[in-house]
Amino acid sequence: MIPLFKVHIPKDLSKLHETLESGFVAEGPKVKEFEQKISAWVGNEKVIAVNSGTSALHLSLVLAGVKSGDLVISTPVTSPATNISIVNLGAKILWADVDENTSNISPLSIKKLISKYGEKVKAVIAVDWGGYPCDYDEIKSVLPDSARLIQDAAHSLGSKYKGNLAGSTIADFSTFSFQAIKHITTGDGGLITCKNEEDFERGKRLRWFGIDRNKPGRTWNDDLPEIGYKFHMNDISASIGIHQLDELDTTLKRRRETAKKYEAGLKSVKYQHSDKYNAESAYWLFTIYAEQLEKFMQYMEQNQIASYPVHIRNDNYTGFKKSAYDSDKLVGVEKITRSMCCIPVGEWLSDEDVNYIIEKVNLYKEHV
Ligand SMILES: Cc1ncc(COP(=O)(O)O)c(C=O)c1O
Repeated sequence: MIPLFKVHIPKDLSKLHETLESGFVAEGPKVKEFEQKISAWVGNEKVIAVNSGTSALHLSLVLAGVKSGDLVISTPVTSPATNISIVNLGAKILWADVDENTSNISPLSIKKLISKYGEKVKAVIAVDWGGYPCDYDEIKSVLPDSARLIQDAAHSLGSKYKGNLAGSTIADFSTFSFQAIKHITTGDGGLITCKNEEDFERGKRLRWFGIDRNKPGRTWNDDLPEIGYKFHMNDISASIGIHQLDELDTTLKRRRETAKKYEAGLKSVKYQHSDKYNAESAYWLFTIYAEQLEKFMQYMEQNQIASYPVHIRNDNYTGFKKSAYDSDKLVGVEKITRSMCCIPVGEWLSDEDVNYIIEKVNLYKEHV
């Protein structure tokens, strides 16, 4: 079976051995080194390494000022991880529709929800589905000053919106995941990038109980002015991450080459794209829209190619129904979730694999 996901392990792991032998594995010099390296790579000095993408989202919502009873606009087309922190903070979800060409949150749908709920909306979470950036200029043009924008970039490390990398300063916060099967993995891990200094300084304190590690003259009995979380990254994870970053450009290049071949070769299915704005996907996923989804997946499995939608629409989960406050008409969500399917695009695919997948997808028409 050609897999949809594979764990990327770097060839060189010398930093990890160094850490394990050093006698210090908590948050320390390797986290700092990882942060400096990824900060240079995304072009933003305000980066906060944490222990998962979910923690990154939770902390971003806290920094955005989201509290119990507040409203947060989000998309149902994502991992439950995007939305669970809204629930855990006691806030309420307003479901927005998605654009049926990109599977990303629709700025028009956000606008409708904002005009209904105004300043009660404290944050909007935009997920770059599969690595394809949302239309951030359009989203920002409909946001009131009271709502902060969170880019859930768990899929989109290396994506570009109008030339700007995810994590630069496209949004107030961008959050990344370094969980097992992402572009880079640190075992588990995550990152927040911030636009403003105040959020950055507060975020660094809150990731580790609320303690300011950089405070000059810090002592063992310092006060905790604001209670935080245990969300910090540790040096074991960071050591793996440092090596992963050395291979990220190659990983992205290979994924983009494969995607280009798909875009040129796939004749019988639509695939995720937008001709409305300048976007460069990081291709964590390559998403196609296939007729008769179940049949398509069975057909692909018979041909030894893994394919599936990866995430199911979140508004259908019973747990989220309890926390949903309202919803726009989800016409785009209805439409795409009947046909959305991801095919392998990872760096492990050989040229033969890619040609074989194109051939099989093109032959699918004859099977329906
Ligand atoms: C869109 C999205 N957001 C957030 C997350 C959460 O990341 P993590 O698993 O690192 O907590 C994921 C994980 O797959 C995801 O797909």
